[in-house]
Amino acid sequence: MQNNSPIGFFDSGVGGLSVYARFKKELPYENTLYYGDLKNLPYGNKTKEELISFARNILKFFQTKEVKAVVIACNTSSALAYDSIKDDYDFDIFPIIQSCAKVISEMNIKKIGVFATVGTVSSKAYSKEIQKHNSSIEVNEIACPHWVSYVESGNIASPEAISDIETLINQMNKFTPDKIILGCTHYPYLLESLKKFAPENLFIDPSEIFVEYLKNNIKLNKSEEIGTEKFFVSANPEAFVKNAKIFYDVKNSPTLIL
Ligand code: DGL
Repeated sequence: MQNNSPIGFFDSGVGGLSVYARFKKELPYENTLYYGDLKNLPYGNKTKEELISFARNILKFFQTKEVKAVVIACNTSSALAYDSIKDDYDFDIFPIIQSCAKVISEMNIKKIGVFATVGTVSSKAYSKEIQKHNSSIEVNEIACPHWVSYVESGNIASPEAISDIETLINQMNKFTPDKIILGCTHYPYLLESLKKFAPENLFIDPSEIFVEYLKNNIKLNKSEEIGTEKFFVSANPEAFVKNAKIFYDVKNSPTLIL
């Protein structure tokens, strides 16, 4: 494995591009691969066993590409699969929740809200990881079962989406959070709608913290040539390219992996 070996990113769909886009901007010289597991979307309502099996399939694929590291750009997979797979590969694996928790716990805030998938919320991964570093922080996690489907179906500003977002923000506001973590990589796509009901600076998009963490922990490429990139999906390449648009212009058509 060399410093110029690729870094693999994965998520259930376009969500992980909210991490990937920021990463490419900050670290343009890295060679990268992105895998969207659209066949198994959404991850948020899958069992731990299913999520472990999806992650293993993707890591096996990345292994054939001789990656130097894998970025789990998915909160649900970080929450439910990471612990079971982390020691089984010869490359480093970076999960979003565990990589960001320390920085979040040091933000000098007392009450943190988390919007996340049903799977992430039921695992309580955010509460556990943040309180591991600072047990005095109160964490309130609320599941948003439909938000990923608004993004993956291109309906981010539909009346149904807006009303659902309003209901869940009202529910969260009862807890009076100092900050709310967008604990699913799909949710930054909904920021325009979220901003209708709460100030933008209330929300934390962990991808910013995550990319900073990756920058300091991945063995970086020394080259000064712009890195190559390739996209892979397990279903629906056209939908992937179309829905990615807000965050990333996927110029190379994704390869369908069957
Ligand atoms: N974007 C992923 C996450 O961060 C998965 C969402 C899903 O497919 O339900 O949790």
